[in-house]
Amino acid sequence: KEKPHAPEGGFSFAGPVGKWDYAQLQRGYSVYKQVCSACHGLKFVAFRNLEELGYSEEQVRAEAATWNVPGIDPNTGEAVMRPALPTDYFPNPYPNNVAAAAANNNAIPPDLSLMTKARKDGSNYVYSLMSGYVDPDPEKLAAAQEKGFETPTGLYFNPWFANVNLAMPPQLYEGSITYDDGTDATVDQMAQDVAAFLTWTAEPSMIKRKQTGWAVILFLLFATGLAYMSYKQIWAGMK
Ligand code: HEM
Repeated sequence: KEKPHAPEGGFSFAGPVGKWDYAQLQRGYSVYKQVCSACHGLKFVAFRNLEELGYSEEQVRAEAATWNVPGIDPNTGEAVMRPALPTDYFPNPYPNNVAAAAANNNAIPPDLSLMTKARKDGSNYVYSLMSGYVDPDPEKLAAAQEKGFETPTGLYFNPWFANVNLAMPPQLYEGSITYDDGTDATVDQMAQDVAAFLTWTAEPSMIKRKQTGWAVILFLLFATGLAYMSYKQIWAGMK
């Protein structure tokens, strides 16, 4: 299994002075919406949370209405699908796990809300995984085949996945989607953007946490300086 790697130039939110790149988060959302949401839910994210990505209340209301969520017809009491409201959470695309497994070669596509936290080095992992459907190294492949190992039918080779063959087919192809901001939709770009978006869904307060850390360090330095000066003052007259 390969170790996850960061995109070229790194993620904007990485490191102690990291910041969200809001244009990237918005692009990542459109990758999620147009590609991933066919199979993966985001049960811990509500539509209203999208305001944090820089959308206005009105935009969020309009965006939510483009999604359908399970609801109840107030007149008949029957279960129906209805357009989402800002207060709704992102729906699971399948009615239940049996349907999910049936549609995916017996594997259930996991909810992605906390994926970048659930996996080690999660942001880089999601980026590496999504851009990591490659042909196996011919030498390693030959060695594996000699021992009788091969990718089972219905699974796909991806050296970043824990057991190397997974039930998720490659999802990203050059130009799979069109970005509103005109960014070139290369596989690498979409993988980065969706990984950034899923980092935000898993830890929306990451940047605040880092900034608070700096404020705490500065305050402690200041307090230490003050303590030192009072120590000097108190003992000034003593030999
Ligand atoms: C698993 C991401 C689109 C089907 C996963 C995992 C991630 C992921 C992070 C978990 C891997 C792990 O357990 O470590 C994404 C992203 C997508 C996307 C970012 C959009 C760009 C899709 C689509 C489908 C799908 C459209 C269905 C056609 C699955 C399945 C699994 C899976 C079946 C379980 C694989 C297994 O355990 O063998 N996906 N996915 N994914 N995904 Fe996706």
